[in-house]
Amino acid sequence: MTETAVVEAKPEEPEKPFDIEVHVRRYNPETDSEPYWDVYTVPMYSTSRILDALHHIKWEQDSSLAFRRSCAHGICGSDAMRINGRNRLACKTLIKDLDRTKPVYVEPIKGLPLERDLIVDMDPFFEAYKEVKPFLIASDKPEKERIQSIADRDIFDDTTKCILCAACTTSCPVFWTDGQYFGPAAIVNAHRFIFDSRDEEATTRLDILNDKEGVWRCRTTFNCTEACPRGIEVTKAIAEVKQAVLRGGR
Ligand code: SF4
Ligand code: FES
Repeated sequence: MTETAVVEAKPEEPEKPFDIEVHVRRYNPETDSEPYWDVYTVPMYSTSRILDALHHIKWEQDSSLAFRRSCAHGICGSDAMRINGRNRLACKTLIKDLDRTKPVYVEPIKGLPLERDLIVDMDPFFEAYKEVKPFLIASDKPEKERIQSIADRDIFDDTTKCILCAACTTSCPVFWTDGQYFGPAAIVNAHRFIFDSRDEEATTRLDILNDKEGVWRCRTTFNCTEACPRGIEVTKAIAEVKQAVLRGGR
């Protein structure tokens, strides 16, 4: 009879923290004439996120650092920022997806008025959003729900995923040079209702977007699609709205 040796697997060593260098764009309107870079060394794990680095800086090193965040899980859309030159959510950007041997650069999103450090004034962004009437407009009052087929729901499924983070709009070169342009996010949210079979005001929204600051300002650079943390095909949605404008309806 042969004996079977039982070899117990060794538990994996927990990862040790390592330092990363984080350059953060700072600006205090009360004391600074212009923005400048501050540099921090932060102990991180490969599974840490840039939001963890910012928390570490704020809670352990420099409480004056200002940035927005709420859910910390990619849902609220409040922590869009430029990380290594690209618009991303700080809470969804893992250290292991960056080159940890190089410094990380964190800046506010571009094209909106800078308020302080990583915080920009979001009012112009939300004004454009409100202008496209991002809500269901229907005159009938059914006793129960408004029925919609699965196929009709599918038409605008992608644009329902928007979390209004502004990563798309503030990565758009047209928006940088012309802050009056509605921008990709407003068009995405118009798309969500223009193509909703239960809504009755598609033509109103199409008229609004047929403006000189509307869909025709889009130059199809795809920056918006690349920036979207929800994977929405933003440029495709804009193209579908352009076609609907030309057709005069959805
Ligand atoms: S479309 Fe994407 S990038 Fe633009 S605001 Fe919505 S979630 Fe953010
Ligand atoms: S903190 Fe809510 S999306 Fe990042």
